[in-house]
Amino acid sequence: MADRSDIRNIVILTGAGVSAESGIDTFRAEGGLWEQHRVEDVATPEAFERDPELVLRFYDMRREAIQTKQPNPAHEALAKLDREWSGELLIVTQNVDDLHERAGANRVLHMHGTHLNAWCTACDIRSPWRGTLIDRPACPDCGEKALRPDVVWFGEMPYEMDRIFAALREADLFVSIGTSGAVYPAAGFVRNARDLGVQTLELNLEASQGSHWFDESRHGPASVLVPEWVEEIVGR
Ligand code: OAD
Repeated sequence: MADRSDIRNIVILTGAGVSAESGIDTFRAEGGLWEQHRVEDVATPEAFERDPELVLRFYDMRREAIQTKQPNPAHEALAKLDREWSGELLIVTQNVDDLHERAGANRVLHMHGTHLNAWCTACDIRSPWRGTLIDRPACPDCGEKALRPDVVWFGEMPYEMDRIFAALREADLFVSIGTSGAVYPAAGFVRNARDLGVQTLELNLEASQGSHWFDESRHGPASVLVPEWVEEIVGR
């Protein structure tokens, strides 16, 4: 990787691998979520239309579970980077947990939404939500019983793509952490970054589908690789 002095603006993409060591299942690992539920049964608008009870129960369980998990050293290192990095920084996460924020990071964008919001499909307002949705509670704003999880399902547009591309255009370094490179548009960010002349670095447990697109790819657990890299970049 080029000298740190070349780098001022950083975009980081995180995926399920950054939260794996906090005890949250990744999607594509053996025993991961898709093992128990097929994606088309729980993570599509069609599934919600067909069997809302199943979908709401599934997300209620996930919401409850993530509230019992704690940030790990990878989240903590990224929070340190956020505190200490004076250049631009955007941590784009595909994760719907709040472990980046609970570790203390502020410059976080949830491109796939968050478990801790409910979205009212009647009035389009998103409200912080920690309880269940299966019991069809009323929207705190309009009173309609039209709340759904505020997560992006397959076939829906991820959030804030304009802001992500604007940050990539200004970036000097793009770092992908703990993501399989299987789900677009996030999987394409490395190529967008390369086209823009941005340096690219991957930190992942193993080679991912997109590893060959990166200038450098390091393999190992996020709890080790991320703190090491943050120390490199912020210096001691
Ligand atoms: P995946 O489960 O597809 O990939 C997780 C990646 O993390 C894999 O490449 C693992 O090798 C790696 N990994 C696992 N444990 C790790 C560890 N301890 N340290 C570092 N890396 C580790 O999850 P995502 O790429 O996040 O979308 O999946 C992307 C999207 O697919 C998700 O946001 C979700 C899913 O469908 C939606 O729900 C819209």
